[in-house]
Amino acid sequence: MTTTAIYKDTKHGGRLTSFQGIWPTVDEGAFVFHGAQVVGDVSIGAGASIWHNCVLRGDVNKIMIGTRSNIQDGTIIHVSTRTFPTIIENDVLVAHKAMLHGCRLADNSFVGMGSMVMDNAVVETDGMLAAGAMLTPGKCVKRGELWAGSPAKFVRFVKDAEIEKNRSMAEHYRQLAVQHSYDAVGAVAPTQYP
Ligand SMILES: CC(C)(COP(=O)(O)OP(=O)(O)OC[C@H]1O[C@@H](n2cnc3c(N)ncnc32)[C@H](O)[C@@H]1OP(=O)(O)O)[C@@H](O)C(=O)NCCC(=O)NCCS
Repeated sequence: MTTTAIYKDTKHGGRLTSFQGIWPTVDEGAFVFHGAQVVGDVSIGAGASIWHNCVLRGDVNKIMIGTRSNIQDGTIIHVSTRTFPTIIENDVLVAHKAMLHGCRLADNSFVGMGSMVMDNAVVETDGMLAAGAMLTPGKCVKRGELWAGSPAKFVRFVKDAEIEKNRSMAEHYRQLAVQHSYDAVGAVAPTQYP
């Protein structure tokens, strides 16, 4: 009996698994690091980074990760059957151990460590969800708002300096991913991370 492999490893040690014949599509310039599991209908754009031990399971709907977005260690992303895919646009920062389910994160949005975003919820551009927050179904963090708590509520507007910092953190993670990518293949980076 012949068998067909249902998984393969990315060049940075992450694992891709097909579901019902559908494979994740990972841009040549994306980073999927060791321990990350990416399953089924998931697309990952150029410069995006999926850090160690994330799980992205696109089985009953699709997951899209835009360019340069970072999904930090231990984050879990799933979808809602037929109704809500999970769409993460460009330059988004998703901090460690977040849980994203059937939601949308717009360009330059920020999801803090250990927070949860539920079905049909949205974080708009430069919106910020504080660490440990739980954004309940259908709620929307509008452009430039900060929400916190469980359930999350509007706290205040994000300050200009915070917007700048959040955007620079996304860029920092892109650069850090480049540095890690050398070690992931046993190579020496041409420059030390500052
Ligand atoms: C919300 C946040 C932006 C801080 O905002 P801040 O206005 O500077 O917070 P302060 O420390 O001045 O506290 C202001 C109030 O918010 C509360 N607060 C602060 N952080 C909070 C959080 N994560 N959840 C709930 N309440 C929070 C404080 O208890 C305080 O309440 P009080 O006024 O009743 O005393 C910050 O705590 C946060 O969550 N940052 C994200 C960190 C992160 O995930 N980084 C990613 C690294 S890769």
